[in-house]
Amino acid sequence: MWFVRFLSSSIGKKLIMATTGLLLLLFLCTHVAGNATIYMSSEVFQGYADELHSHPLIVIVFSTIFLLIFLAHIGMGLFLFYQNWQVSKSRYSVTTRVVKNTFSSETMPYTGLIILTFLIVHIFSFTFSSSEVPISVTVKEMLGGFFYGLFYIVSFIALAFHLNHGFWSMLQTFGMNHPRYNDAISKLTLILPLFFLIMFAGIPLYFMTGLGASY
Ligand code: HEM
Repeated sequence: MWFVRFLSSSIGKKLIMATTGLLLLLFLCTHVAGNATIYMSSEVFQGYADELHSHPLIVIVFSTIFLLIFLAHIGMGLFLFYQNWQVSKSRYSVTTRVVKNTFSSETMPYTGLIILTFLIVHIFSFTFSSSEVPISVTVKEMLGGFFYGLFYIVSFIALAFHLNHGFWSMLQTFGMNHPRYNDAISKLTLILPLFFLIMFAGIPLYFMTGLGASY
């Protein structure tokens, strides 16, 4: 069947990683925008969360789609990692990579696993938190804790490294490689992860340092 042939081809696997990666990046954009309301006030953030939950059908459909995309991304990522590992331990292994290996590219499976661990902890803490306590209160209490806040910051650093290589790799797969744009592309692969790092890590720091005491 053409779909199985497509999935087993190297370009097919790369396209799945790039497309699911792009969709996850879009999710991060909406999530960072929603979470930015935390910097405004607890009322604004609570209002945003309540508005979101007043459309349960949208939340369920969106969460299911997100889960499927995420599973496809990790499933294919782990498969590619296993395949590369099989090739590298073979005595016929040859390095064919034309791209200089960077810290971000070498650590993709590990930063990916840190993000997965973060997501499990994160969803259990927030999505499945007690409905008796307003989510704005849970966010302040959890993220103000030293170890929990630190775990978040470390996870966001891992996310920044993951995005640094992932975003570049996605653009290559989509054919965005041209001498005229390569300079702008390499700047973007630094600016984008830094933006998410500052916006996300700023939240635990806001509560841990006491800056958000009146939140
Ligand atoms: C400090 C930064 C972050 C804060 C304060 C935050 C806050 C939240 C909150 C409050 C919820 C629950 C929403 C609700 O059900 O009312 C949530 C859900 C979620 N967050 Fe975050 N988040 C942060 C960073 C991240 C990051 C970096 C990712 C991805 C790598 C992420 C992925 C998710 C996912 C997948 C859900 C579940 C969405 C769903 O139920 O559909 N979050 N987050």
